[in-house]
Amino acid sequence: MQIEASSGAMMVAEGSRFGAFASQPEVVRAESLRKVFHSGLQEVVPLDGVSLSILRGELIAIIGPSGSGKSTLLHLLAALDTPTNGTVYFAGNSLSSLAESELAEYRNSRIGFVWQRHHLLPDFTAAENVAMPLLVGGMALGQALRTAKEWLGEVGLASRSEQRAGQLSGGEQQRVAMARALVKEPALLLADEPTGDLDEQNAEHVFDLMQRLHRSHRLTSVFATHNLALARRADRVLVLGRGKLSPEAEAPAPKWASDSKTLGNLG
Ligand SMILES: Nc1ncnc2c1ncn2[C@@H]1O[C@H](COP(=O)(O)OP(=O)(O)OP(=O)(O)O)[C@@H](O)[C@H]1O
Ligand SMILES: [Mg+2]
Repeated sequence: MQIEASSGAMMVAEGSRFGAFASQPEVVRAESLRKVFHSGLQEVVPLDGVSLSILRGELIAIIGPSGSGKSTLLHLLAALDTPTNGTVYFAGNSLSSLAESELAEYRNSRIGFVWQRHHLLPDFTAAENVAMPLLVGGMALGQALRTAKEWLGEVGLASRSEQRAGQLSGGEQQRVAMARALVKEPALLLADEPTGDLDEQNAEHVFDLMQRLHRSHRLTSVFATHNLALARRADRVLVLGRGKLSPEAEAPAPKWASDSKTLGNLG
């Protein structure tokens, strides 16, 4: 379920294999990732030797044309899918070496995921949606709702906490989704075109919010976007193309990069 994958926790459990995490500068490392999809008789290889080291506190943007593998990469980092070859490490542990329960802890408690579409439960209130990851983790209802409301305050929606999610505007829904992703204080926030469904003004607001939360909560964040102006507000811009990930300065200029309309209008 999406909600389970949308939250995380900085708390380091006693005896957890992730125990060393808090002292390491590198949050997640990907080594030589290759992903092959089979679609009928065709093979699609969006990632073909992608390596990446994500350091604590970084805000990283991933850009690239549609179909270049941005979502695929984020899914591999979140352990929502597995690479055909290559390895993702968290706290020095290869995700492929983790037991199912440890992988669930990684997905549910270490990663916060924001999707292009918010995936909120429309009939539940904003507070209930944000509280959901805490409830799944076993927190008592009252405490979970109190924590959720604090996070709704953080995203500027304290006054809307009792509103059904389905009645909120697109921008508000995405802010609730951001609160839900952060409610367990993840080690890594992954956002897949978080502003892609919003108009320019709302995209700007949601991005400002993400950047502010990133700084004030000392998050480590990776987001995929088609919006070059937003991408360039990150600490690092990485470009996916032809299966490879390279720093923007070193990436061959893709055809779409010279089309300012494309860049401005896509989220
Ligand atoms: N489950 C799947 N089965 C088959 N092919 C897939 C699957 N998921 C992704 N692909 C293919 O892999 C390639 C990369 O897809 P991906 O969604 O990662 O691209 P993207 O960069 O996120 O694109 P967009 O900017 O449009 O979101 C595409 O060609 C896509 O069709
Ligand atoms: Mg995508």
